[in-house]
Amino acid sequence: MSESTVSSSASAHNGSRQSPPCVLTIFGATGDLTRRKLLPALYDLAAQGLLPDEFAIVGFGRRPQDEGAFRQNLGEGIKEFARLPFDEEKWKWLEGRIFYQQGEGYGDAEAHRKLEERLVEVGKSVGAGDNRLYYLSIPPEEFAPVIENLGEVRKVARKAGAKGWRRVIVEKPFGTDLKSAQKLNALIARYFPEDEVFRIDHYLGKETVQNILTLRFGNILWEPIWNNHFVDHIQIVVSEKVDVGKRAGYYETSGALRDMVVNHMFQVMSLVCMEPPTSLGADDVRDEKLKVLRAIKPMNPEQIAENTLRGQYEGYKQAEGVAPDSHVETYVALKLEVDNWRWSGIPIYLRHGKNLEERVSEVVIRWKDVPNVLYNEEQNAPLKSNMLVMRIQPNDGFALRMNAKVPGSNEIRDVRMSFDYAETFGSEPPEAYERLLHDALIGDSTLFTRRDESETAWGIVDPILNAWKDGHAAAPFEYKPGSWGPKEADDFINRDKRRWHKPVE
Ligand code: BG6
Repeated sequence: MSESTVSSSASAHNGSRQSPPCVLTIFGATGDLTRRKLLPALYDLAAQGLLPDEFAIVGFGRRPQDEGAFRQNLGEGIKEFARLPFDEEKWKWLEGRIFYQQGEGYGDAEAHRKLEERLVEVGKSVGAGDNRLYYLSIPPEEFAPVIENLGEVRKVARKAGAKGWRRVIVEKPFGTDLKSAQKLNALIARYFPEDEVFRIDHYLGKETVQNILTLRFGNILWEPIWNNHFVDHIQIVVSEKVDVGKRAGYYETSGALRDMVVNHMFQVMSLVCMEPPTSLGADDVRDEKLKVLRAIKPMNPEQIAENTLRGQYEGYKQAEGVAPDSHVETYVALKLEVDNWRWSGIPIYLRHGKNLEERVSEVVIRWKDVPNVLYNEEQNAPLKSNMLVMRIQPNDGFALRMNAKVPGSNEIRDVRMSFDYAETFGSEPPEAYERLLHDALIGDSTLFTRRDESETAWGIVDPILNAWKDGHAAAPFEYKPGSWGPKEADDFINRDKRRWHKPVE
């Protein structure tokens, strides 16, 4: 690399948070994720001085591609998608550290050998040495060949005296059921010990998701009432306005349960329901999250039929790549129970769908009603139960609903105490990928899914998928695009004398 392409870090160094020297390899470098998420996040890190001068990115792809054109395309992606304003000098710094390596295929040993040669050369030129971070942004069927080849290359490098660390970031799906997840994890474990494996779940990178822990364990007031004595039920909703768009091919093999619930939503549920960890260290936090998943009450097919509901939006079957008789769910509602000391008997409702009325992700804790003694409907209005809404996106923040007396009358009305991230802290929170890439670079796996978490999650979902497949539960109910899902989903919760929380409340 020439002097002209490598300038010294364009911004002030950010002390100890700066990541160590490393060459980052992105498999699937010409894909959408690289352009829209990964490079903008890396640019944001660079702009904050969080990447060292001894850093480089090597994109690996099957398409022949001119390195200049590759850089230019990523630069345009940064202009469009980065959080921080585009700065020519900062971009030049990063641009000089981007390379492209074409290879015949992800499973091609020769391509991997050449890649390693290139990584050695690039590592030397920027002074990053042998430290390697690999990002697998590729279709799941390509995971195995890439992992195997990386493992083989590593053996050779070790023999030749390479000393640096190697880490691998894996994008979901981590399998499509328990068996395939176990198989994938076993393969990864053959070559990479668990502390080198970073299974990315971008929900954990969201500030508001991380704030669940701070809100719970940084305040004394919740703990006494955060249990089955006081809580009536919990709702977790992730609704999306977008439909499956161009991803119908993938979605047909996935569906809502595999796409969002087994990973993102179970992670959020674990944070909401877990016990206080011994420390905020990666394994202490993940041990507690795992216990929540392990405590989910198993269901037989009849219970699955009763406690799960599927929907499909009208028009899904007409999308390109979708089978005309597809039973794939674009909406799912579940009623689960964390059957442990703290939560036994308390329903946890999860709801997710595409092509719904609004884009909103939130957690709702709804407490029990006060005893019906002091206030009544004739003299006052009916009292609403206390409720905490943790808004993950958009308008990140939280709101606590309480009752207050209307001045000059006996009427009681519900009021809100609320906190809004943007209003309080003024700036946009870092993007999930920004946080997660930085964590992987510094070797902190707290916000990544551990192998046992992922497999336990599949263990919960597998019987549901099987019961659905074997026809034990109703087929997906149709719903109108832009609605809140099938009307049967309202009946699903209404029969428990509860109702879905409306995000505007
Ligand atoms: C992805 C799913 O993991 O998360 C997508 O595959 C979904 O289907 C996306 O749209 C939602 O992410 P976010 O951050 O927009 O809520």
